[in-house]
Amino acid sequence: MRKKRQIAVLVDAAEITSDDPNFEGHPEAPTTEYHVIGALRKLGYEVSVLGAVADIAKIVEILTEQKPDLVFNLTESFEGDRGMDKNIAALIEIAGVPFTGTGVAGLMLCRDKRLCKQLLSLHKIRVPRFYSLPLGHKVPVAKTIKYPLVVKPALEDSSEGISNASLVNNNAELQERARYMHERWEQPAIAEEYIEGRELYVSILGNKRLTVLPPRECSFESDDGCGPQLATYRVKWNEQYRKKWNIKFGFAELDQATLKNIGRVCKKVFRILKLRDYGRIDLRLTHDNKVVILEANPNPDLAYGEEVAEAADKSGLSYEQLIDRIINLALRRCE
Ligand SMILES: Nc1ncnc2c1ncn2[C@@H]1O[C@H](COP(=O)(O)OP(=O)(O)O)[C@@H](O)[C@H]1O
Ligand SMILES: [Mg+2]
Repeated sequence: MRKKRQIAVLVDAAEITSDDPNFEGHPEAPTTEYHVIGALRKLGYEVSVLGAVADIAKIVEILTEQKPDLVFNLTESFEGDRGMDKNIAALIEIAGVPFTGTGVAGLMLCRDKRLCKQLLSLHKIRVPRFYSLPLGHKVPVAKTIKYPLVVKPALEDSSEGISNASLVNNNAELQERARYMHERWEQPAIAEEYIEGRELYVSILGNKRLTVLPPRECSFESDDGCGPQLATYRVKWNEQYRKKWNIKFGFAELDQATLKNIGRVCKKVFRILKLRDYGRIDLRLTHDNKVVILEANPNPDLAYGEEVAEAADKSGLSYEQLIDRIINLALRRCE
């Protein structure tokens, strides 16, 4: 009989609770860790859970002693620092174990919302015009780019730091928001032109051959048109708030030519930013059908019911099949 493959699931240390360190109970718990680990067990893998703890020697020791066939990398930060996601990838790489998802280079490129936009522009991919608001510098007056602007922390994810006040209409609002960003987030900010249009999320699976999954859409349809225009933190995480403003996540209805063009651009983005195995590209589709890339997510949420899983399901891949596909992509890439 073939030996069961051993998968070590590496998770953010903060996600591990002392009463259930191996994520065996609480099947109803809504966290990505429970969903992915549950799926791996159902698939028949031998699963061990490993926390990305401060004592990194311990991680290396376990990985080199256990020698799992693969690390399923669910970490998004190290000790709360998102910028260290690439360092964790580097650590697994040094331990010599294959792991799922994007590696050091891609994580580094995607982490900085300015760097990835510069790189995409070089490749003639449309991105919002922007300028950087570094910490400790006077905020310049926007001269060459047009209001309204969206002001965001340059190094965060998951709509952290994004609220309705992120959309600024004049220099006074820009100055105020930039100051707040610097104080609250202690990092550089980015101010980019607001792109009016449909908000789409495009999940991709693959490496050499890429599969574009059916695009998802966040539609903003408040009755009086005065509701939020951005996928703010509350829009993303608060269902009641979405109900109040008639904001819905669903599948995007698009004509074949537009769909094809979106797929072509997103595949290019995936490759330029060195994503691996799976990823999700966030974009806006303007009224004249131009694809404007907002960002690429090398670590999109793999929870059941989230964008990637929903898109996979629509394309005929069950949740377990999605998780298995990611494992096989990673293993094949490392052969
Ligand atoms: N330039 C922009 N034009 C229009 N909407 C934007 C722009 N930048 C950000 N947004 C809105 O804010 C959301 C979060 O921005 P994004 O750059 O994807 O950051 P995050 O990493 O936090 O998801 C987007 O999904 C979109 O709704
Ligand atoms: Mg986003």
